[in-house]
Amino acid sequence: MYDSLWEPFAFGRGDVTARNRTFMGPMTLATAEPDGRLNDWIVSWYQARAKGGVGTIIGAAAAVHASGFGWPNAMTIHTDDHIDGWKRCVDAAHAEGVLFGTQLYHSGAASHDALLGHTPICPSAWKRDAFDPARAMTVDEILTVIDAFAQGAKRSLDAGCDFVELHGAHGYLLHQFWRRDVNRRDDVWGHPTYFAEEVVKAVRSVVGDRVPIMYRFSIHSDDPAASDEPVTPESLAEYLKALEVAGVDVWDISCWRESRRGYFGTTTLLPEWVRRTSSLPRVVAGNFLSPDGAAEYCESGYAEGIALARGLISDASWCERARVGDAYRPYEDADLQVLRNGVDPGV
Ligand SMILES: Cc1cc2nc3c(=O)[nH]c(=O)nc-3n(C[C@H](O)[C@H](O)[C@H](O)COP(=O)(O)O)c2cc1C
Repeated sequence: MYDSLWEPFAFGRGDVTARNRTFMGPMTLATAEPDGRLNDWIVSWYQARAKGGVGTIIGAAAAVHASGFGWPNAMTIHTDDHIDGWKRCVDAAHAEGVLFGTQLYHSGAASHDALLGHTPICPSAWKRDAFDPARAMTVDEILTVIDAFAQGAKRSLDAGCDFVELHGAHGYLLHQFWRRDVNRRDDVWGHPTYFAEEVVKAVRSVVGDRVPIMYRFSIHSDDPAASDEPVTPESLAEYLKALEVAGVDVWDISCWRESRRGYFGTTTLLPEWVRRTSSLPRVVAGNFLSPDGAAEYCESGYAEGIALARGLISDASWCERARVGDAYRPYEDADLQVLRNGVDPGV
C-alpha cells in the first residue's frame, strides 16, 4: 500500500540511494551519557526504526563543539571519543539496508550558562526566549565553529555515515546567522548567507565529491506584517541559491506542523516555493502522522522524501506496517513523556 512511499530516493550525489522515500527525522533525546557519548539504549532505538522499514535515518542533532551544547544528556559528536557510538548506530542501520547520517549542529544562543560553563554565543548579542542572554561571537570563534562543523563531518564519515545533514533550522546557530533580526553584525559575517555558505564549503572540503550534504532549514516568520524582519520569497531564494552553489545536495524542509499551509500570504506550500528556486530533491518534515497523508504529499509532487518524527516515536515499525497495510500504533502526546523517562514507547 501507499506505493509512492516505497520508491527509491536518490540523493543526487555519489550514487547514494535509499531503499524508499521515508526518513526518520532528527530527534534529540536526553538518553545519552553525560558527556554526549551514545550508549546501548540509543543503538537499540535506531536499530528498532531500521528494522521497522524506514529508508534513511537522520541522527539526533549532534553538537560539533562544546560551545554548542543545547541540552543535558544529548548526543554529541564534538570529539573523536564520540565516533564509536555513532558507528554502532550506523552499523545497526546498515545491517537492515538503511542509510544513516548525522545532523551536525551548534546551539548558538539556545543554551544556558550553567550547561556551557560560559555565556552562550551568537552572531550578535541576543536573548532567545527561555534561554540565557548570548553574546556576539568573535571572528576567531566563528572560524573555530566552522572548522568544528568540518571535524564533525569527518567524524561522521569515520563512523561510516552515508551522508551528513547540517541543522540550519529551528533558531540554532546556522539559523541565527540567516535571521536578519538576530544577525546584526557589521562585518562580512553580517551577510545573511555567508556563515552557512562557509560551513557548507568547509564540510564539502572534508567529505569529498561523493558524500551528499543535506541541509535542514525552517522559516521563523513569513508574515510581512511581522516586526521581526520576516523571510520573503526573495530572501529565501537568495539563501537557497547560495547554499546550492556552496555544495548542498538535498533540502530537508522543516515545516513543523505546517507542511500543508501556504507561505508568504499565498496558497503555495513551502516546498513549492523551494522548487521555484532549486531543483534539488526535497525531504519535507511536518505533521506526517498517517501514511495516507505522507503518500498523498509525495504523489502530489510536493516532496521527494518524507521525514517522520513523532510517528516513529510511537511505532518503530510505522513504515513496514504502512507498507503491508497493518494497523500502526498512532502517536499520542503521552508518548513524549514516556520517552523523556527513558522508555522507548514504540517497540
Ligand atoms: C522529541 C523530538 C526531538 C526533536 N529533535 C530534533 C532535532 O534534534 N533536530 C531537528 O532538526 N528537529 C528535531 N525535532 C523536530 C522533528 O525532526 C520534526 O521536524 C518535527 O517533529 C515534525 O515532524 P513530526 O510531525 O513527524 O513529528 C524533534 C522533534 C521531537 C518530537
